[in-house]
Amino acid sequence: MIFCANPAAQFKSYQTEIEKVVFKVMRGNRFVLGEEVLSFEKEFAKYIGTAEAVGVANGTDAIEIALRSMDIKPGDEVITVSHTAVATVAAIEAAGATPVLIDVDPQFYTLNTFQLDEVFSPKTKCIIAVHLYGQPSNLNVIIDFCKRNKIFLIEDVSQAHGAIYKGKRLGSIGDVGCFSCYPTKNLGAIGDAGVISTNNIELAIKIRKLREYGWNDRISEYSGRNSRLDELQAAVLRVKLRYLDLDNQKRLHLAKYYMDKLSMLPIQLPKIFEEGEPVFHLFVIQVENRQKLLNFLKKSGIHAGIHYPVPVHLQPAYKDRIKTAKNMGVTENIASKIISLPMYPELPIGDAEFVVSNIKRFYE
Ligand SMILES: Cc1ncc(COP(=O)(O)O)c(C=O)c1O
Repeated sequence: MIFCANPAAQFKSYQTEIEKVVFKVMRGNRFVLGEEVLSFEKEFAKYIGTAEAVGVANGTDAIEIALRSMDIKPGDEVITVSHTAVATVAAIEAAGATPVLIDVDPQFYTLNTFQLDEVFSPKTKCIIAVHLYGQPSNLNVIIDFCKRNKIFLIEDVSQAHGAIYKGKRLGSIGDVGCFSCYPTKNLGAIGDAGVISTNNIELAIKIRKLREYGWNDRISEYSGRNSRLDELQAAVLRVKLRYLDLDNQKRLHLAKYYMDKLSMLPIQLPKIFEEGEPVFHLFVIQVENRQKLLNFLKKSGIHAGIHYPVPVHLQPAYKDRIKTAKNMGVTENIASKIISLPMYPELPIGDAEFVVSNIKRFYE
């Protein structure tokens, strides 16, 4: 069986090192927000190129806490895309704000900057640019828009750890970067974990308080919540961070292989943004007859994924009440066409060849 992602293979790659640090934590006396978390935060900030990084419990919390640190509150609006993990939108509502969803670019699957003017209002306080599938959003245009309108920019980097835009790592360009370190991510823990990066020291100080009851010296300065990162996850993330660039190179190598071998088929392949260096969290293609192809691949033991089958604004929890741009055509159209092919650093090239040969057979 070949799956879309394979966290067990990741563990095996670094098993000896991971087991060593896990036992060290277990034999210690501090299991939450200790030395491992502090060291991970320092090393991650250095890697991303920000002054600060703050570990939190998961990627959804990272966004919610980032929004709270910016004083975003009920009545405020936050613009983001509908074609994303539902978590991006859930986090906006968890912070008490109102999400306003716009469409994506049909080639890069990132925020359609042409709709920003249409949905902007005096209530807009922030944009969340989601670097989906490992591909940078069109940050130049978005930053310009945010500066002109004096609003914040959060980068949702949950699918793009290590990706670069114009020489800078994603997560170091907006006011704040929010990362999920869910086990299947490019930098994945062995459970839930998240991290927030920023160059804004004031925001970082507030974020540190907000993640633990709003505490300042054990007295709540803000109404916070608990989103602490534990030592086990931080220790594992420190090990994997050392290999992140290498792992991303392996993903890129596989992506190039797929692009090369599938180029003659009636498939829309991912486009690479000129000013960016993507990290292929997912390798997403578009096809007309998706279900037939999925079934065909499944018969050979290939389990491709769909990210995501239903746009957020059409899901039962949000439908008929969520604000959107007038035209959500790309998001609604691609939802029935996209397929995520197997993509993870340890995927043997022989398995990638098997995926390619089966797709070719399907089109014969
Ligand atoms: C783009 C995006 N944003 C946010 C999240 C939320 O992360 P978590 O599941 O760690 O809360 C995810 C995870 O799936 C994601 O892919």
